[in-house]
Amino acid sequence: MIDIHAHLIPGVDDGSVSYYESVRMLEMACQCGVRALVATPHSNIPIHNNYYGEWFENCFKKLQDLTKEIPITLYKGMEIYLTKDVVDLVKDNKLITINNTRYILIELPVLDLTHNILTNIKSIINANLIPIIAHPERYELFYDDTSLLMQLASQGCIFQVNKGSVLGQFGATAQKLAKYMLKHGLVHIVASDAHSPYQRTTRLDEAYDYICYRYGSEYAKTLFYINPRRILKDENIDRWGFL
Ligand SMILES: [Fe+2]
Repeated sequence: MIDIHAHLIPGVDDGSVSYYESVRMLEMACQCGVRALVATPHSNIPIHNNYYGEWFENCFKKLQDLTKEIPITLYKGMEIYLTKDVVDLVKDNKLITINNTRYILIELPVLDLTHNILTNIKSIINANLIPIIAHPERYELFYDDTSLLMQLASQGCIFQVNKGSVLGQFGATAQKLAKYMLKHGLVHIVASDAHSPYQRTTRLDEAYDYICYRYGSEYAKTLFYINPRRILKDENIDRWGFL
């Protein structure tokens, strides 16, 4: 499996707090069948004021050195808080896409106006980038009305659901929306959004088994293997294959 969303870089956000925890997270991922993982620290958000730089390269290199015995390939990325200047910050190399592809992992500003969200997403798409909306099923914004979700999909966004939401670990409402999205072919990737080796872990196997059982093995393979691999290779993914 390939995990495109994990807070693995230690000490820079609310994810892993140490290299010890990061190594444990990668061991756990390996044990459940993950073979590639994208480190995606929170970025462009005031409380985690993380912009790309030497610190990122140094931490990433150290993590690679500490885990070279673990058969997982690490890739660089960021979970980027949506603001109107995301495209400029990418052009300035202050924010990075997943593995330097067109795919950019986006965290939505839940308190912002719908109009601003759509406008800022549009500016990303106009820059020939492809927004991957991180865990849409966790935003109250979509709970009573899925039309914004559909607008984002028709703009060209793709959706990454958290494995914890599928399993009910973020509450009944997030699970309900995750299931609705799975049923209607609105999920393109499932990722761990792992924050530690203790809670919100890197284990993907339970969610994979659940989706295999409830929705079929072809869908599960698409969400955990095929689409994440296409993202890493900067290939197009089938957005409506299950509708
Ligand atoms: Fe995250």
